[in-house]
Amino acid sequence: MPKFSINRRQFLGASALGAYSLLHTQASGAEGVDVQIGLTPSNTHPGQKAVLSVADPSRIRLLQLTDIHFFCKTARPELDKQTLEDVPRLIEKTQPDILLVSGDLWHDNPLGKGKGFMEFALDKVSSWGVPWIFTWGNHDKLDDYAAGHDALHNAKHSLYRGGPGGGNYIVTLQDQAGADLWDLVCLNSMGRGLLAPQRDWLKALPGQEFRPAAKNAFAVVHIPVAQYEQAWAAPECGGVRLEGVSSWDEDGSALPLIKALGTVRAYFCGHDHVNDYRATVDGIELVYGRATGSGGYGGDEVPKGAKIITANAQSGQYTMETVYPDGSTWQTEPGKKIDQYENTPWAKSPA
Ligand SMILES: [Fe+2]
Repeated sequence: MPKFSINRRQFLGASALGAYSLLHTQASGAEGVDVQIGLTPSNTHPGQKAVLSVADPSRIRLLQLTDIHFFCKTARPELDKQTLEDVPRLIEKTQPDILLVSGDLWHDNPLGKGKGFMEFALDKVSSWGVPWIFTWGNHDKLDDYAAGHDALHNAKHSLYRGGPGGGNYIVTLQDQAGADLWDLVCLNSMGRGLLAPQRDWLKALPGQEFRPAAKNAFAVVHIPVAQYEQAWAAPECGGVRLEGVSSWDEDGSALPLIKALGTVRAYFCGHDHVNDYRATVDGIELVYGRATGSGGYGGDEVPKGAKIITANAQSGQYTMETVYPDGSTWQTEPGKKIDQYENTPWAKSPA
């Protein structure tokens, strides 16, 4: 029989979700919904764009690590220890140019401990020795988000530039001569999804000096957009879905704004730990990464891992696969949809 761990909805509790209000953000805490995560800006570092030179424009390697959830289960420190063993192995096996840390890096802000959780997390991410981006997840809670932006910006190997934009920014991958190859549109989906602040930032983006300028781009966001439901319904969709799409208050209006940028090829999210599928909706591929942190729910249903993406800026093509710490891989197959644990390739046979 499969073991089913507590999922995110059960963890948060329905009553906390029902109490959502943009105007009345609850105090952050283990159970509270802090809607405006990362929204308070910081202008300590006014730029909203970082640049990274990559060695081989025909083989750009991006490793998406999502839902690391440091300090989720503080009574079981062996889980974070496992994550800290797994990530360096994932990096060693995949040799990425950049890490896409797509949210829920740490877990909440109980009794004001979020700052310490973040500092621990930034120390670890920096120690991995690879340039990295970060997008806010619904559990990345702090008392002081302006200070959080600054800490994220100042951390070693960080490409985070989200301070002035309330967590939204651009990273441009360039060749050694400084030509733009591929952009990353990094968005803060706060506590309840991409909402008015992010839509406003996206609407203004084409007029900004830091707008995406490469031919191709990926969006990196913690929470999926509503169209992930459509993606699952698409005949060519493939992958695993063991829980529903938690796009929450996102109403489907963010994706057209992302599409209007004209260059975004794919949207990478996390958030739903036991989903790993991909399909194209309205010209943009919607992709679930693979949850990485052993402290987060779902590891007994879907093994923890990461998503390695290889982009060729010369051809505009990209490929991806899920990778595990031992270096083995798994790929979604178009049209092959798995929605029962028993049908996953990693299901344990009954004892
Ligand atoms: Fe998560």
